Amino acid sequence: YNKYRPFTTINMKERNWPNASITKAPLWCSVDLRDGNQALETPMNLDQKVKLFQFLVKMGFKEIEVGFPAASETEFKFVRTLIEENMIPDDVKIQVLTQAREAIIKKTFESLKGVKNAVVHLYNSTSTLQRKVVFQKTKEEVIEIAVKGAQICKELALQSTGENYTFEYSPESFTGTEIDYAIEICEAVMDIFQPTPNNKVILNLPATVEMSTPNIYADMVEYFIKNLKNRESAIISVHTHNDRGTAVAASELALLAGADRVEGTLFGNGERTGNVDLITLGLNLFSQGIDPELDFSNVNEIMDIYTEAVGMAIHPRHPYVGDLVYTAFSGSHQDAIKKGMAQYEKDKPPYWDVPYLPIDPMDVGRNYDPIIRVNSQSGKGGVAYLLEKEFGLRLPKLMQQEFGLIITDISDKNQAELTGKLIFETFKKEYIAN
Ligand code: KIV
Ligand code: ZN
Repeated sequence: YNKYRPFTTINMKERNWPNASITKAPLWCSVDLRDGNQALETPMNLDQKVKLFQFLVKMGFKEIEVGFPAASETEFKFVRTLIEENMIPDDVKIQVLTQAREAIIKKTFESLKGVKNAVVHLYNSTSTLQRKVVFQKTKEEVIEIAVKGAQICKELALQSTGENYTFEYSPESFTGTEIDYAIEICEAVMDIFQPTPNNKVILNLPATVEMSTPNIYADMVEYFIKNLKNRESAIISVHTHNDRGTAVAASELALLAGADRVEGTLFGNGERTGNVDLITLGLNLFSQGIDPELDFSNVNEIMDIYTEAVGMAIHPRHPYVGDLVYTAFSGSHQDAIKKGMAQYEKDKPPYWDVPYLPIDPMDVGRNYDPIIRVNSQSGKGGVAYLLEKEFGLRLPKLMQQEFGLIITDISDKNQAELTGKLIFETFKKEYIAN
């Protein structure tokens, strides 16, 4: 079958619905090892960072922000380890973050000596609030900081001995910045970097703090793209945080508005409420029949690596991967899934077509076992299904009804889920012992 099967209910053509959907995967950049790491109670040690880096490569990330090498010895050493121990595949670029300050930029370049390909990510805060409260600087002075930082980066890159650098600039707190001013500062930085369509600069537009509904962020991105001079020499990147719980929607709408690239993390780790969750974003594409260009075929492994690296659990209702997302307790849902699965097996349509299941759990390395679980909300169908699946016992229709009620009653009284084994034991007690 086609691995990227759309979920039938979003098959817009059949529903004759105007089609404004994302049609291809963006360029992805994982910031797990930087934004994700800086927000942990206990940041990752060198070994944990190496392990996560290798896993991100295995998943298919081609750009990975590995840290802020001027910030600490561990960060610096990590970048050196990746380079000196040849851990970076030729088709992968590491990305490092630097503030626009000379000493920090110099240390950053020092950390990159001998790298084949790297993205140097320069940033400074540009919002009205930060300018006023944190830096007490005018708009011109803030532009000056960015331009000077870009000049130092450019000079150091020109002195490089074989390293290949791409530049990225972030007007940090973009969402709190006057949009025309954000364009002005990015254009000033572009004047220094002198990008071309063959050697683009990455302009990254952070919702450092998510401040508005996602459409407003997307409108800002759209305006930025439409009004930026030399747009064809820039990769427009989005970097959303989840303070209002809409980072995924904000990134998706920004892609629809013309952005090319997304920075985010696995399961949305990152400052405060986190960065945008790339698992949800990627699998949202997958569920629409689009190749996400990241490997989600074994989400259990992704979850294990993540939990080990960051020490945080994954919510059981986390989209696509939580322990409960391919489970139905309700009788009517169970019945519909059972019928849907049987029909799907029979028809084998080119899209996934089972009610209540947004994707085929098998596609992400799960199986069908937990789909039907029985508690007081379940009906006869779920009970009959478990007896047949686990014990090969097929109940006649009338008996299904009668026994279903017995099971529901037990579960209700005990306020507990019932396993197949317990259901079978009850069945023996009710019908065989007597
Ligand atoms: O959220 C943010 O603004 C950042 C920048 C450093 C890109 O992480
Ligand atoms: Zn961030």
